Amino acid sequence: MSDRTYRIAVIPGDGIGTEVMPEGVRALQAAADVYGFELDLVELDWASAGHWQAHGTMMPEDWAERLETVDAIFFGAVGWPDVVPDHVSLWGSILQFRRVFDQYVNLRPVKLLQGVRSPLAGREPGEVDFYVVRENTEGEYSSVGGRMFEGTDRETVIQETIMTRTGIDRVLRYAFDLAERRPAKKVTSATKSNGIAITMPYWDERVAAMSESYPDIDVDQFHIDILAANFVLHPDWFDVVVASNLFGDILSDLGPACVGTIGIAPSANINPEGTHPSLFEPVHGSAPDIAGKGIANPIGQIWSAALMLDHLGEAEAAAAVEDAFESVVAAGDTTVVTPDLGGTGTTAGLGSAIVDAINHPA
Ligand code: NAI
Ligand code: MG
Repeated sequence: MSDRTYRIAVIPGDGIGTEVMPEGVRALQAAADVYGFELDLVELDWASAGHWQAHGTMMPEDWAERLETVDAIFFGAVGWPDVVPDHVSLWGSILQFRRVFDQYVNLRPVKLLQGVRSPLAGREPGEVDFYVVRENTEGEYSSVGGRMFEGTDRETVIQETIMTRTGIDRVLRYAFDLAERRPAKKVTSATKSNGIAITMPYWDERVAAMSESYPDIDVDQFHIDILAANFVLHPDWFDVVVASNLFGDILSDLGPACVGTIGIAPSANINPEGTHPSLFEPVHGSAPDIAGKGIANPIGQIWSAALMLDHLGEAEAAAAVEDAFESVVAAGDTTVVTPDLGGTGTTAGLGSAIVDAINHPA
């Protein structure tokens, strides 16, 4: 096998995950054929209600050993609340990957596409094109704390924020490196050092220290409250926005919401050193309300495939996959695009149009 053979775990999960994944795989395969690399796909029925019913768990006990050797994980969506409670299915699968595989960067592109109506009035494609980089392992989401005097008048709960120099620096380095590869070369830090007066000033200190190693990057910072407002008022100000776990969680939903349907939003959970595999998945969940109808938008899954190709070093193929879905959406044929984009198209029909565009670039 050539050194451009990628072993990829394919985990569709549940609901529309099983409908959009085949389109994601078809787009990947088309890109492999055009750009001359090989895919070794390992299909797994994990993270599904079916696996839960058959085995009483979301994944086999040895899941980590079995996935440790793959080059990447391509994930659909988990969740089928009629069968498995959501906290069980999420903690039993997707959250395990993030923690055990130390996927400390959560990356979400925010890009207004031609042919998609933004809920922000008067914004044109090209004006909104940035990334949210969220710290994915520590910060406000810690397990340090507890409950005392339960059920009495003194009932007390404490949950500490944990920020480590290692944890902050590595996510900042990822954000600055990403900004260096982009024309605008700008990093915006999300802070709240006016109110959260211990951890957030430390975060700001580390941003200032990191910026010294990147003299050509423009750095600014906003408190999270006005930053959220500016996502809506001035989305054209941003290039790479880096944030702690909680602030990043909020911004990484707000950003994609500002540029249209959740059906197209992709995300990456990255272990940048490659010590463990990284995971690529659409932002959306299993959408039980439209599952089985064949109308889910496959672009979130296909855009995630492009992020995965970029991570694997196939930048040209990644760009071609992006160009393909952008051109299909821009063409605006309402018989092709899915209902969430105002059309009457199907998952498979939109997937086929994108595969055609990969095979025959404009
Ligand atoms: P959801 O993202 O599944 O659906 C929210 C709304 O967006 C629904 O109206 C749905 O029809 C629509 N939608 C989502 N993806 C779409 C697509 N590709 N094309 C067109 N419309 C789309 O979120 P919801 O309903 O809160 O959760 C459903 C299940 O998914 C739950 O079990 C939840 O725990 C799980 N979930 C899993 C995630 C993951 O796997 N990372 C992320 C979010 C939710
Ligand atoms: Mg969220």
